[in-house]
Amino acid sequence: MGKAMSRARHVAIIMDGNGRWAKKRHLPRVVGHQRGVEAVRKLVRAAGAMGLEALTLYAFSTENWRRPEDEISALMGLLKRFILSDLEEFAADNVRLKIIGDYKALPADVVELIEGAIARTAANTGSTLAVALNYGAQDEIARAARAAAAKGEITPETIAAELDTADLPPLDLLIRTSGEIRLSNFLLWQAAYAEMWFTDVLWPDFTPAHLEEALAAFADRERRYGGR
Ligand code: IPE
Ligand code: IPE
Ligand code: MG
Repeated sequence: MGKAMSRARHVAIIMDGNGRWAKKRHLPRVVGHQRGVEAVRKLVRAAGAMGLEALTLYAFSTENWRRPEDEISALMGLLKRFILSDLEEFAADNVRLKIIGDYKALPADVVELIEGAIARTAANTGSTLAVALNYGAQDEIARAARAAAAKGEITPETIAAELDTADLPPLDLLIRTSGEIRLSNFLLWQAAYAEMWFTDVLWPDFTPAHLEEALAAFADRERRYGGR
């Protein structure tokens, strides 16, 4: 049964290892982040051709505020530049940009840019690129539970309907790069029955071919959802 449904609709990626990529080359961490953005750019272009309905990328976690201020501001700067340089291409490619996470707590100029980008692509009907910014699954679940409680009963269904990902297909495949085997507070609810794929490749070295490899592995998995 599982194999008949083996084409992934929604893939999420924990893009990890930018710092170690730079360190190996005796370069500043920010260069690793810059190269990480290049990897995102190439991957987003390729993901459309792979037929994914949604690609969710973990870009900044609720815990990443623990990093030094200069690294955080470099990341915010890269995010702004990415939106400014790539938005029109996404818009032309019919890609809808979505943000998951409490992005309104980001710097005001970033929030403004994000909201403009969301509005610019809101009517697009192709694939969805969901970027996780100031995202933590525990925060997301707490927000969803509060919203569900405000409307009535708290059940798995009413919570799921309030998650940031409520309008996306169910998560099929969760990828993490850089050899770490943990979720780091990413999509804890949605990962309940997602397949996992881990690679030692550092994020700046991740190419569309690696995503193809992960999708091929996914196609061979048998998903049972607790049944038999
Ligand atoms: C991932 O790379 C990018 C972000 C978390 C923003 P890291 O910066 O975590 O790289 P490592 O894990 O230190 O190598
Ligand atoms: C997870 O990576 C967050 C992102 C990729 C944005 P981290 O590098 O922050 O995770 P830990 O600290 O190794 O668990
Ligand atoms: Mg890391």
